[in-house]
Amino acid sequence: MSLTGKHIVLGLTGGVACYKAAELARALIKAGASVQVVMTEAARHFITPVTMQALTGKPVFTDQWDSRISNNMAHIDLTRHADAILIAPCSADFMRKLVHGAADDLLSTLCLARPSTVPLLVAPAMNVEMWQNPATQRNVDQLKQDGVSLCGPAAGEQACGETGLGRMLEPEQLLEMLLAFFQPKLFQAKKVLITAGPTFEPIDPVRGITNLSSGKMGYALARAAHAAGAEVTLVSGPTALPAPFGIKMVSVITARDMHDAVMVHIAHQDIFIAVAAVADWRVSEVSQQKIKKQNGASPELQFEQNPDILAAVAALPKPPYCVGFAAESENLLEYGRTKREKKGIPLLVGNIGPQTFGKDENELVLFDAQGDHPLGRADKDTLAQQLIAEIARRL
Ligand code: C5P
Repeated sequence: MSLTGKHIVLGLTGGVACYKAAELARALIKAGASVQVVMTEAARHFITPVTMQALTGKPVFTDQWDSRISNNMAHIDLTRHADAILIAPCSADFMRKLVHGAADDLLSTLCLARPSTVPLLVAPAMNVEMWQNPATQRNVDQLKQDGVSLCGPAAGEQACGETGLGRMLEPEQLLEMLLAFFQPKLFQAKKVLITAGPTFEPIDPVRGITNLSSGKMGYALARAAHAAGAEVTLVSGPTALPAPFGIKMVSVITARDMHDAVMVHIAHQDIFIAVAAVADWRVSEVSQQKIKKQNGASPELQFEQNPDILAAVAALPKPPYCVGFAAESENLLEYGRTKREKKGIPLLVGNIGPQTFGKDENELVLFDAQGDHPLGRADKDTLAQQLIAEIARRL
């Protein structure tokens, strides 16, 4: 996903979270956007225009009467080519100004003068009591009614030492929201259940059997489905990845846990995407104590088969649209075709096996009733987006 060609006006208002705006500007630019920073006087107490100018490569504006704009109409000039205005951080006072249509500094005037086609997003940042105050909550309701998109706030430790709602979202979360904002909503009103990561099958309290799946492909798909407008549930085995923003996470350990969690959530799902590398077998008798070395003799482990989650979902009386993944170390095309039929699913996604586990890149081939269709090699986020488009086309 990228913001290539998008022009974002990034508004900064007074708040400690201004320190995150520098990181946010960098993230937006890295994602391909051009960023025009406009700051309020209060924001200048927290971060200097010099920093923001150096990061964005553009002059920063604060003053409504800035003579650098030849016609002295900064509030018009700065918004006419914008694809979105993002106020981050947005103080309680600036929210009040937006609600009342204030136009007493450049940023508020610019928001009021923006064409109705330019979306306004605000990322509130304030003390928990300020956020919870009925006055602020009235302003929040009004902003929503006015079509302003609220991004956050998050809960947690605050600069003032108190804890609760009011923290500005992290730059990467705001980037994620902006990316979602510009995505075509191919999965609007769809419910999507995704499995991801490995499973871990215990042998004893300290040992187990797992595999090298990092979860990156499944998490990328969860983000892409969310960005495409879906309500996403992600059932994940143990991974080192952060929970994707805006997605319902269900964390599991074993294949049986994953099976049970999927069955609990499968009703009313429109699409099921099984990306998890589920262990085929589990140890029949898990030792309650750590197995001790016994004079050089190896322990005898008995295995039994785990449930095939994908096949079980595909065999439901009214299955959702099922998509499977297959990692093959050889004969991908041949195995891919037969695996799709064996699992009884309309779409199987093949990749060239364990080499791509844990990597940011992947190479995918789609198998459906019509044959095989290579998606080529790309980073997992791009492939996830392509895959969402392919699924949407087939639905
Ligand atoms: O049979 P194989 O493990 O190669 O199939 C891979 C596909 O089946 C993947 O989509 C995987 O998530 C799913 N699967 C499953 N439950 C299992 C084994 C695999 O859902 N027990």
